[in-house]
Formats: sequence, C-alpha cells, structure tokens
Amino acid sequence: MCGIVGYTGNKAAVPVLVNGLKRLEYRGYDSAGLAIDTPTGILVEKAKGKVSELTKLLAEHQEDSPIHKSQAGIAHTRWATHGPPTTENAHPHASSRIALVHNGIIENYKSLKGKLEAQGYNFLSQTDTEVLALLVDSHYDGDLFQALSSALKEVEGTFGVACMAKDEPGVLIVARRGSPIVLGVGENETIVASDASAIIKHTRQAIYLDDNDIAKIKGGDIDIRSLDAGVVSREASEIDWSPDAAEKGGYEHYMLKEIFEQPDAIKNTIRGRMDAERGTSMLGGLGLTPREIVDIQRLVIVGCGTSLNAGMVGEFATEDFAGLAAEVEQAAEFRYRNPIINSKDLVLAISQSGETADTLAAVREATEKGALVAGLVNVVGSTIARETGRGVYLHAGPEISVASTKAFTCQVATLLMVALKFARSRRMSVEQGRRFVQEIESLPGLVKQVLAKDKQIAEVAARYVQYERMFFIGRGYLYPVAMEGALKLKEISYIHAEAYHAAELKHGPIALLEDTMPVVALALEGPGKEKTIGNIKECSARNARVLGIITEGDEEAKSEVDDYIEIPACRLHAAVIPATVALQLFSYHVARLRGCPIDQPRNLAKSVTVE
Ligand code: AGP
Ligand code: GLU
Repeated sequence: MCGIVGYTGNKAAVPVLVNGLKRLEYRGYDSAGLAIDTPTGILVEKAKGKVSELTKLLAEHQEDSPIHKSQAGIAHTRWATHGPPTTENAHPHASSRIALVHNGIIENYKSLKGKLEAQGYNFLSQTDTEVLALLVDSHYDGDLFQALSSALKEVEGTFGVACMAKDEPGVLIVARRGSPIVLGVGENETIVASDASAIIKHTRQAIYLDDNDIAKIKGGDIDIRSLDAGVVSREASEIDWSPDAAEKGGYEHYMLKEIFEQPDAIKNTIRGRMDAERGTSMLGGLGLTPREIVDIQRLVIVGCGTSLNAGMVGEFATEDFAGLAAEVEQAAEFRYRNPIINSKDLVLAISQSGETADTLAAVREATEKGALVAGLVNVVGSTIARETGRGVYLHAGPEISVASTKAFTCQVATLLMVALKFARSRRMSVEQGRRFVQEIESLPGLVKQVLAKDKQIAEVAARYVQYERMFFIGRGYLYPVAMEGALKLKEISYIHAEAYHAAELKHGPIALLEDTMPVVALALEGPGKEKTIGNIKECSARNARVLGIITEGDEEAKSEVDDYIEIPACRLHAAVIPATVALQLFSYHVARLRGCPIDQPRNLAKSVTVE
C-alpha cells in the first residue's frame, strides 16, 4: 500500500503535503513525490527513497519559486507493486495536462496500456499507475471529474486515487475502490489522505469515502458522487485520538513506544466490556442477542500476518472454553479455496488497519455465502469495519510501527472476551466466568511485570545478535506465540526465524540444528510443558543454544536452557500476552543491536492493501 495526501485551500500546499507524507510514510516508503498547481501549469517533483529525499529536492527551489506559493496539490509515498522503486516509477504520474497519484493495483493495466500506445501515448515508467494517469488524459476534454469517472469505468482492480488538471486550478478529484481515502474537512480547505494520521493535525472532522465514491474538491467545497450513479451523502465523523498519540513520545522508535503502551492499550480494549458480577463480557458491537449467539454453530476467524497469529489464540480459546467449533484461516486462502460457509457461521475478520486487501476480500466472500460477518479492527471507520457493519473496535490507539505489537495483544484480549461471551452462552458457569473476567482484567498488570524486565531482556538479546537463523517452538496456546515471535524477529532484524509446533521439530526441521542455530522455546507451566522440555533436550543434544520463555521460579526449566526470560505465573490462554511481550522486546533489542531501522523495515508496509 502507499500514502496519498492532497490539499486544496488557502494555505501553502507543500508543507501540508510533506508533513502528511511523513505521517503516512509507515504505509510505504520506497519513493515519494508531489504535484502542485502553479500559474504556468502543474509542477511535479519526485525522488527515490524516503520522504527526506523529496524534501532535499524541494529545498533546491528558490525563495520565489511557485512551490512556496501554491495552494493545491497531491502527494504520494510509494510501496512498489509494479516496477522497482525508482524516480521514474515514483508518483505522481502525469501528462502535459493532468497529474495523478494512486494506491492499489490496476489489474488490466497491460491491455489498457496497449490501447493507449495505439493512440500514440508514450510511457516513461513501468507502473500500472502511469497507465491510469494517461487513460484519464485520454478521456480529458476540460472536465477532470468526467475524465476520471470515465477512465475508472474501464479499470479492473483497486484504487485510491487523487488527481488534478492544469486547467482546473485548486480542484482535486479523488475516488476509491478497495484502497482507503479519507477527507479532512477544514475551514475553506480540505486535506485528502489515505488515513486519518495525516489529517488529525488540521481537523478532527473526517469523511471516509466508500468504494466507488468519487469526489470533486475545491477549498472547502466537497461534492461526492458514486461512480455507479448519482449523488451520495457522506457524513463527517470525529477522529477520536489526539495528534500526539501518533508521535514517538520520547522513545527511540514507535515500536518501543507501542510495546510500552500495551498495559494502557489493553485497558482501553477491555474498558466497559467486562461484567465481573455476571462473569461475562459485553460486546454490544457484535449486535447479537444471547439467542443469536447460541444459534451460531461455528466461528471462522480470518486474517493475515500478526492478525492471523492472534486468530489462532481465538480458535483455541473458543473451542477450549465455549465448546464451539472454531477455525482460523489465512484470509487469502479462505477467499480463493471455495470454503464451506453457511448462515450458522460467524466469520470474524481480524485486522489492525481494517484495510488489508486479502482480509477484506475474505469478508466479502463470507458475506456472499450468507455468513454473519464481524470485524475485530483497530482503525475506526476503516473499510472492514464499515463493510462488516458489526464487530469490536480494539481502541488500541494508532499503531505506527510497521511491526505490529499492541494490536496483537489487544486482538488476543478481545478474542478472549469473545470466547468468554460464547462460553457463558453455553456451559461456562457464572463462577468460572468471574474467574475468566479476573484473568482478562489482570492482563495489563502481567504485561507491566514483563516490561519491567526490559533491561534483562536486552542483555539476553545481546547474546543472540550474531545469529542469522533461529527456531521458535511452542505447543497449544504457545504455538501462536512462537509464530508471532518468529514474525517479529524476521520483520525487524532480518534474521531468518521460523516457528514450528514443538512436536513438529523432529519430523524434519531438526536436521537444521547445530551450534549456529539457536532455539527460542516457549515452556511455560501448564499442559504440554513437560513435552516441550523434552523437545528442548532434543535441541540441546544437537548443540543448539536454547532461550527458554519460562514461568517465574521454574527451576526445572531453568536447568534445561542456556538463557531464559521469566513470565509471571498464569493460565496459558492469558500467558499468551505477557509471553508475546517478552518476545517483542527480545526482537526489538536484537534488531536495535544489529542497527536495523525497526519502524520501517525494508520491503514492508504497514497495511497491505494490494493482493
Ligand atoms: C505484522 O507485524 C505485520 N505488520 C503484518 O503481518 C500485519 O499483521 C498484516 O499485514 C495484517 O495487517 P492488518 O492487521 O492491518 O490486517
Ligand atoms: N501499483 C502502484 C505502483 O506500483 C501503486 C502502489 C502503491 O499502492 O503504493 O506504483
């Protein structure tokens, strides 16, 4: 995915565009560019690399350059899908008359490109986006709204798009299908962005476009229509978090800040949703009566990456405590494998951004097959939240670092509340429910205890910095923790970390073990621990160094490992969260000591809004 920013109003556009790009850089950062209105036409500047490379280019303009006076423009920070990260492939893409930025994929760009080349158009880039830009030009006869509308009717694929025309100064035309666009409503000005973090400094009033919306914007005038037909009305809503929530707050990296925010984030997730007296959770957003909850015969959880790992915990807890059939599926697999879904299924889409293309597609496929569909989403107003129409917001606050941390722990806390809800509608007693509520309410404190070990965890991490390969192993609830720990380490330190079910190691992967391949073993007190201790012995017998994630005071486990990080004692479904926090810190310190960028790892983007 990428970051789109647009501005039209009564202020200098470039500072708004550049600051907006900086806010959105976590969404994709392999090149950046902008286009602005000037009296002599549209001026485009773009550069390979981060937004800082673009600002160097802009600084070369003289004091009297129109770049400092223009009051309308569009900007983009790219995450390449078609064509490598080069200056030529950077957005905006332009003709002599129009300029355009785009998030998404034009699936039929090749056939459209052939048609345009036959009309005499020449291409400077390898991107699908340039095809869209020149397609708009081919329809342009002085009305950019009409030209974009006509062009998009020929397009197959996804787009969040903003464009402008030389002969329509101050006018931005924006549209979306499958990639988010939000409009910040100001005083005689409008800010267009891919998400609210680029808007919040200017206004809290936001209009979230729906798929197939197209809008003409000039200053504070906004006219939204549908690509299908007619005028649509979109109400502005309040952005509910503060600008500094998206700042680093004195931490070296957003990731570390967000790791340390987790006690408060989890408190916000569970706030108002626990009923200690009745021993249950209150999830009104699911919009299900107790009777409808009882009628559900299966929970199908879909997600990607970290959200998929959280979903695994939800599957185990739902079956374990509610006795309800549950399964977790990789969203892209779910949408293409023709799953057996029916009206007695509840499909739960887990997504921090609420914009992940594969998860959104899974939502649409489940809806098509008549299932009840709900979202477990962090970003309010995001596409998945709006298309499911029901669900549970995480309230974790903005998560800026590409590597997801607080979203995972808040997703797991929410999934435990969902499992409790279903359990109490079935065989769980009020007493058992009250105990479960206490365990969920204890989560912030358990996380705080692990955060207090940060210095010790950093010392352990220092012993693993030199390795280039690593195994993570766990059983039961701790297998998703192994998956998430391996993903974190991969993402930010570039160490090839692989997670395996502890029992699976001896079915092949153990062939890789030697003294250059350490193993992180989740061996907390509870079902499966003794078996995992056995697996640890198998690893040690092959000279692999073992880091044990163990329960505080477990002397047996300590005697079996080379290094250890202790987690406060609790039942395993709750231990998922503090154990994961320990691995978040472990990965963070390994990456930091390896000099990695951490918040914006190479090749990654915060939310993958393309397939
Ligand atoms: C996790 O650290 C990654 N950033 C990535 O796996 C992410 O979890 C995945 O892309 C899903 O994103 P979502 O939760 O916004 O849908
Ligand atoms: N598909 C377009 C490109 O590769 C847009 C990618 C993005 O969403 O940043 O340039």
